[in-house]
Amino acid sequence: MRRTPSGTFTVLTALCAVLFSLLGSLLGPAGTAQAATATVTNATQFTDPAGNPVHAHGGGVVKAGSYYYWFGENRNADNTFRYVSAYRSTDLRTWEFRNHVLTQSTDPELQSANIERPKVMYNAATGQFVMWMHKENATDYGEARAAVAVSSTVDGDYTWLGSFRPLGHMSRDITTFVDTDGAGYMISAANENADLHVYRLTADYTGIASQVQKLWPGQWREAPALFERDGVYFLLTSGATGWSPNQQKYGTATSVTGTWSGLKDIGDGTAYGSQTAYVLPVQGAAGTSYLCLGDRWGNSMGGNVNDSQYVWLPLRFPTRTTMAMDYFPQITVDTAAGTVKGLGSWETLTAAHSGKCADVADRSTADGGAAIQWSCGGNSVNQ
Ligand code: GAL
Repeated sequence: MRRTPSGTFTVLTALCAVLFSLLGSLLGPAGTAQAATATVTNATQFTDPAGNPVHAHGGGVVKAGSYYYWFGENRNADNTFRYVSAYRSTDLRTWEFRNHVLTQSTDPELQSANIERPKVMYNAATGQFVMWMHKENATDYGEARAAVAVSSTVDGDYTWLGSFRPLGHMSRDITTFVDTDGAGYMISAANENADLHVYRLTADYTGIASQVQKLWPGQWREAPALFERDGVYFLLTSGATGWSPNQQKYGTATSVTGTWSGLKDIGDGTAYGSQTAYVLPVQGAAGTSYLCLGDRWGNSMGGNVNDSQYVWLPLRFPTRTTMAMDYFPQITVDTAAGTVKGLGSWETLTAAHSGKCADVADRSTADGGAAIQWSCGGNSVNQ
C-alpha cells in the first residue's frame, strides 16, 4: 500500500479536525442536536413527530439539561383527568412525547378527578422535580385544592403527595415561580377566585411556608403566570370567564413579596382568543425573550379540553415596567440565540439599498401611518 505523503496526511488531519469541530458545534454536550430557528404556527393543535396531537393544555415548561420539558393537561373526552403528559424539545417546535407522568392510577385521589394547570419546578437543593397543580373532583369546582407530586427525574413517574387547601384557603388556577435566590413561590386564585394569593414555599418546595401577598382583592384574576425580567417581576393574569377568553392584565413589582402595581391591560380584549398558561423565558447567546404560552380552549368552541389550540406570542417591553403582546399567525423561535419573533413582523423587513429595518414612526396604529427606515435593533415594534 502506498504511503500517504506526510504533507497530504497533515492536510487531511487538519481537515478532519475542522470537520469534527464543526460537528461538535452542531452537537450539544450530550450529543443532542442544537436547535436552529423553528417556526410555530398559532391557533393550531400541535403534533409530535409521530403525528399525534400534543396534549399539554394549561401547562408549564421547565428547562432540564439541553431540553425544554412541557407538562400539561391531557384529559378524557368528558374533560375529567386522564394524564399529566410530558414532552420535550430543544427548539420549542418539535415536541417529543416522553411520559404520562401522572395517571388515574397514580393515586386513589386521581381515579376520578379534575387536574388543571400543572407546573413543574426544579429544586436545586434537593435535586427533585416538584409539580403543583389545581385539584378538583370530577364533577364540580367545590374542592378548590392545590396538589403536589414529586419525581427525582424530570419526566419519570411522579409520586403523589396529596391535595389540600393552602393554609385553609380555596385554591384554583395556579402557577409556580423560582426566584433568583432559589426561593419557591406558588400563586393561586383564592376566595372563589376573587383574590390572588402568593405563598412562599418550604425549602423543598413541597409545602406552604407562609402567605406573602393577597393581590388585587375583588378583581377576579385567574390563570396567573409570573416571571422576572431585568429586576422587574411581572404577573400576567386572565379575567374569570370560564373557558371563554377575556382581557389579560398584568402588574409589576420589584420583588415577589414587595408592593405590586395596579393592573394594566395587555393584548386585545380576548388575548387573541386565548388564556395565559405560562410565560417562558427563552435564554440564549443574544439575550432572553419572553414567550407567552396561551390556550384557545376547545370548550369555548363547542369541544373539550383536548380539542384546544395553542396561541404562543412574544411579549415585548416598551419600558422596563410595561409590556405588550401583538398577534402573529406564526412565530419564529431561535433557542440558541434566545430570540422569539412574530413572523412577517416589520423587524424582519430590511431595505435593500440601506440594509436598514422597516418600522412605523412612533409605533403609530393609525390608518395611513407611514413606514420609515430605522437602524435595526433601535426602535422596531418587536423589540
Ligand atoms: C378557567 C380556568 C381554567 C378552567 C376553566 C373552567 O377560568 O382558567 O383552568 O378552570 O375556567 O371553566
